[in-house]
Amino acid sequence: MLAELALRALTPAAPLARRFGLLQESVALWSRGYRQRKAWAGHHARCRKLVADIAAGLPRRRKAVILGSGLVRDVPLTALRESFDEVVLVDIVHLPLVRLRLWPRRNLRLLTRDLTGAMAWLAGEAQARADPLADLIADEAVDLVVSANLLSQLAWPVADWLEDHPERAAALPADLPARCIAWHLEDLSRFKGHVCLISDVEMVERERDGAIHDRLDLMYGVKLPPEDESWPWPVAPFGEAARDREFVHRVCAWREWREWRGGGA
Ligand SMILES: C[S@@+](CC[C@H](N)C(=O)[O-])C[C@H]1O[C@@H](n2cnc3c(N)ncnc32)[C@H](O)[C@@H]1O
Repeated sequence: MLAELALRALTPAAPLARRFGLLQESVALWSRGYRQRKAWAGHHARCRKLVADIAAGLPRRRKAVILGSGLVRDVPLTALRESFDEVVLVDIVHLPLVRLRLWPRRNLRLLTRDLTGAMAWLAGEAQARADPLADLIADEAVDLVVSANLLSQLAWPVADWLEDHPERAAALPADLPARCIAWHLEDLSRFKGHVCLISDVEMVERERDGAIHDRLDLMYGVKLPPEDESWPWPVAPFGEAARDREFVHRVCAWREWREWRGGGA
């Protein structure tokens, strides 16, 4: 708890990241990931292997872009740094622990960005949604893009914020959380290099006897094409969020994300 408070105080974060609860979430993710390192190890290893395999098969390895890099637990950063000229880590929050671990920064760049492109607009600080990846999409040297367990995280902070700001919400489209997901999928489709998408898409809440208590569509009704592979991620095993309930997410991976024509609920 004290470590979490200290980390929150020490992390330089944009006001929007704080207002949308994302600094707090990054710190919570760090501490939960530490507590649950054994339970999460299989998920992280699977993500890292997938990305390493894809990277090894590319004809050119100039620039790799990791979207939602966070604590860099699910990407094989050392291998990427060894094989690419440059690795770009993009997230709305980079915790000091990550910044320290990544030193020295040779061939590594950290970009701090809101990848929904919508937060400043929602908060009344911009007239419209920004195009958060325009510069990287225009960069011809980007040979690999990995959206690393980011997609599901783009929607709920916006949903929570709209709930807390009903007057502002009334003036905005009702399906904004789903739009944040769809925008990211469209943004990914615009890259010329190889794009790999990894995301949790569903949460299952289960009792000790195996009975399913609840299922939550983390994609807010946005339909995705069939995935190449999927696996369970025990995000909150019994005792983490509730004594007699576990929360398991289904993670899907698309090895090569292509043009996406959209789809709603
Ligand atoms: C589940 S974590 C991803 C895990 C990360 N790849 C790792 O290895 O630790 C989701 C990440 O998405 C980031 N994120 C959430 N909303 C974002 C936004 N609007 N823009 C950019 N990053 C965001 C969070 O800060 C967090 O680091």
